[in-house]
Amino acid sequence: MIKLLRIKEILANSSIDTEITISGWVKSIRDAKELSFIELNDGSTMSNLQVVVDKQNFSYNDTLNKISTGASIKVRGRVVASVGSGQNIEISAGFISVLGESPNDYPLQKKRHSLEFLREISHLRSRTNTISAVMRVRNTVSFAIHKFLQDRGFFYIHTPIITSSDAEGAGDMFQVTTIPFDSKKIDSIDYKQDFFGCKTHLTVSGQLAVESYCLGLGNVYTFGPTFRAENSNTVRHLAEFWMVEPEMAFYRLDELIELSQDFLRYLLQEVLENCQEDLIFFDQRIKPGLLENLRSVAGSSFKHMTYTEAIDVLTHAIAQGKTFEYPVQWGVDLKSEHERYLTEEYSKSPVIVTDYPKEIKSFYMKLNDDGKTVRGMDILVPGIGEIIGGSEREDDYETLLNRMKESGLDIDSYQWYLDLRKYGSVPHSGFGLGLERFVMWVTGMSNIRDVIPFPRTIKNCQF
Ligand code: 4AD
Repeated sequence: MIKLLRIKEILANSSIDTEITISGWVKSIRDAKELSFIELNDGSTMSNLQVVVDKQNFSYNDTLNKISTGASIKVRGRVVASVGSGQNIEISAGFISVLGESPNDYPLQKKRHSLEFLREISHLRSRTNTISAVMRVRNTVSFAIHKFLQDRGFFYIHTPIITSSDAEGAGDMFQVTTIPFDSKKIDSIDYKQDFFGCKTHLTVSGQLAVESYCLGLGNVYTFGPTFRAENSNTVRHLAEFWMVEPEMAFYRLDELIELSQDFLRYLLQEVLENCQEDLIFFDQRIKPGLLENLRSVAGSSFKHMTYTEAIDVLTHAIAQGKTFEYPVQWGVDLKSEHERYLTEEYSKSPVIVTDYPKEIKSFYMKLNDDGKTVRGMDILVPGIGEIIGGSEREDDYETLLNRMKESGLDIDSYQWYLDLRKYGSVPHSGFGLGLERFVMWVTGMSNIRDVIPFPRTIKNCQF
């Protein structure tokens, strides 16, 4: 039996005159007098393989009339040197089996389709150059995340998707219930009668749960889907997104900064090494200059400034004539326009901002000695803004309890989290990287909806 090969392997390894079998989807078909030329793609690579069909060897009724754009076929044939330009080899077809026909209304004909249109056919868009390239990059990044952390002895912890924690200070939550919805009775629902016997939600972050395993196993991470019912209809927000959250025992803010920088540079390097063909496509078609920029970032260290310094930079820019829509003063949260200024105009590189006012950050971040700022850390990158959010964690029981009270949290439901500070508390730190934001950065794609297979956003849960 002849081994079924993928096009990527054939283009890399096959020698002239070998007999091979390939399967894939017809990207396009061009008819000449005696020959037909089929561009076949199987998703393994951006490149198509040309199949040359000598029409006199095949039946129109059984084969030739059934091959159209979008159809799936299996071809057995011989590898020959290509006479046409654009490829070194092609397949001279000896036998073709049509696996699935594709009628004329196939929506992906050979022309450029807008990304908006492709979102409407998300179930078919994996067959386009852009989306298949994005998904190959996404795959490489996901694998590299595990590789980086596993090589450094981190343990992968599967934190729960359904949680009863009241809030983690990270955003609005989706409720999980089996009680039939009746808006009139919403205030009198007895959650003791609900499936779990209490109010439950989809997790906004696995951090608090992974912290409890950090304080037992040392260096750990969670990597999975997280859910936020934020009313943010932007090109950077999803209601369901993937996040990797490493958590390190005995790490302080400085060590956290170093690890997160190494992590980002490693991921960039892996994509540069393993996704060359796809990156060239993004560089040429999506964002000119992308490759050069990624190479330079992968080899450089990021600029570090405190929140207070960032406010100074922005205030100075305003004094020089720069205008922002939102006001800049110590204490405000940085908006996207401020983040963009810091990365794109001021430093022209990723920027690490630390030591934010406690009022704009989560209760679990370690309070600095000034009593005003916390050891939070955000990493901002050009074109995207915040890609990583993290902090050294508050490890002192009383200080944490006070911060929880200040934040209006229901202390009872966090008693387990306080226990981690009661029994053998240690300094520890962690961060969260949004997978889709990272994929946007390395592909140059400008809308987060195009870097996840089936985007879930406000007023949209198609497919
Ligand atoms: O800054 P965030 O909210 O941090 C946390 O969730 C912490 N618990 C992480 C930790 O310390 N373990 O989110 C972290 C990252 C952001 O920097 C961003 O990349 C991504 O998650 N993110 C989103 N990505 C897509 N859509 C959204 N709605 C996102 N919200 C956050």
